[in-house]
Amino acid sequence: KVSREFIDELPKAELHVHLEGTLEPELKLKLAKKNHIDIGQTTIEDVEESYHYDDLASFLAVYYPGMAVLQTEEDFYELAITYLHHAAADGVRHVEMFFDPQAHLVRGIPLHTVVDGFYQACVDARAFDIDAHLIMCFLRDMSALSASDLLQQAQPFRNKILGIGLDSDEHHNPPLKFAQPFSAAIAQGYRITMHADVDQVDSIEHIKQALEIINVERLDHGTNIVEDQDLVDWVNNIHLGLTSCPLSNDFISGDLKGKEIIELLNEGVKVSVNSDDPAYFGGYIADNYEALAAEYKLKPEQIVQLARNSFETSWISDKQKAIYL
Ligand code: HPA
Ligand code: ZN
Repeated sequence: KVSREFIDELPKAELHVHLEGTLEPELKLKLAKKNHIDIGQTTIEDVEESYHYDDLASFLAVYYPGMAVLQTEEDFYELAITYLHHAAADGVRHVEMFFDPQAHLVRGIPLHTVVDGFYQACVDARAFDIDAHLIMCFLRDMSALSASDLLQQAQPFRNKILGIGLDSDEHHNPPLKFAQPFSAAIAQGYRITMHADVDQVDSIEHIKQALEIINVERLDHGTNIVEDQDLVDWVNNIHLGLTSCPLSNDFISGDLKGKEIIELLNEGVKVSVNSDDPAYFGGYIADNYEALAAEYKLKPEQIVQLARNSFETSWISDKQKAIYL
């Protein structure tokens, strides 16, 4: 049996975590009080009671309204630095973190408040040995024009943002809808990834668009490529990373998707383990490794391969990569 100590001490990269998804009930209530925001709940138990979801849409319906408590640059900083401390304790050395500016812009929070707060936490995390970076996501249930506008607004922050992602509700929102803003992002030198959530309608078609037309460098989730050998071969040929999130899968689909992860590992696919929205799905990255290892009786070599894959498919420099591989 793989011990928790083994998992904690193994150096890891986290490539799929949403900063807004690290908002724990305790901080949510503290910020609600400070900023005089009525979130409809006053105790941790009330907040936890509201965390009921059984698919992506019902999760997002709880997730987005909760962000209203984030108001000032200090709030965004506190959210990120709290997560980064937790990640460090879990053995994370390198992290690329998603954030959703449009969810804040629509509430009247300026982009600089969000980016500057999050970026300062990345700078301060160097003091406790985490190399932290930001991935700005487009919300796929908003328009392509809104995404292009966000990309334009982010120009002054170009050197603080490593990559561009795509998240939120996938249903009826295929990658091709965002062909224009993604090609503009690539031209501006951003790294590119996007969500292909588990158990989505038209998932395989969406993955094909992401790979063949958008030219993504990673896929977030995406483990259902196991259904399609041509996709497995394609992904292997270009050494593309898949960022799987077992506890998230369990909450949203009632299944850690460990069978898929093991099959992909056996095929040589660069799949990694990540936390997605740790405050909402019951655990941080080491909890995800632990749950997967326990349920599927993973061997230490498989755990090490998952962690190696996380560094291999990260966007750190080759020089830094050499430290971990
Ligand atoms: N999928 C889509 N959008 C999200 C997710 C996710 O897993 N987490 C936070 N926003
Ligand atoms: Zn996600």
